[in-house]
Amino acid sequence: MTETLQGASKMKEPDIEKVLFTGEEIQARVKELALDISRDYEGKVPILISVLKGGVLFLSDLMRELTVLHEIDFMSVSSYDGGMDTTGVVRILADLSINIEGKDVLIVEDIVDTGLTLDYIRHLLLGRHPKSLKIVTLLDKRERRRVDVPIDYVGFVIPDAFVIGYGLDYQQKYRNLPYIAIMKSDA
Ligand code: PRP
Repeated sequence: MTETLQGASKMKEPDIEKVLFTGEEIQARVKELALDISRDYEGKVPILISVLKGGVLFLSDLMRELTVLHEIDFMSVSSYDGGMDTTGVVRILADLSINIEGKDVLIVEDIVDTGLTLDYIRHLLLGRHPKSLKIVTLLDKRERRRVDVPIDYVGFVIPDAFVIGYGLDYQQKYRNLPYIAIMKSDA
């Protein structure tokens, strides 16, 4: 492992196969994404919608790098139930608190895997008639895609492996890791 756990000395070390992206690499890519998004939304006030829980770290870093005015809101959905594979059923646990009709909306995801979650959310939000709807994801595990979802901004394309850290969990743990790592498959 190229990084040690930060602020988590009492936490059991996860069984890591390989660190995919260090904290520094993630921060650098987030800055680049923020630059692109700020340029594309110049003169607009987008609503950034974070998909809980995994997307919160990405949202909080991304919004601090944006140079355009924006609002944020949250949706809580779950399809993995803390495990390693999708249940195939997307559950809405909490809905938005604001009306997005006529607004420029940007969905902020940590990872797109099968695409089922995003496809569901995208259609749900399009039904509320936003002025525009775009998607940014930090990670794109595109070889696992089961539904074709248009993604406007991608941080990193990753291989088909189970990843943890920077918001991504294994049984709700390890979201706090500052890096993104592949877990050992026999962990
Ligand atoms: C993860 C992730 C995405 C979804 C992507 O959420 O945050 O929302 O899975 O997978 P898909 O493309 O196969 O649908 P999860 O259900 O694990 O909830 P969490 O964010 O609370 O960890």
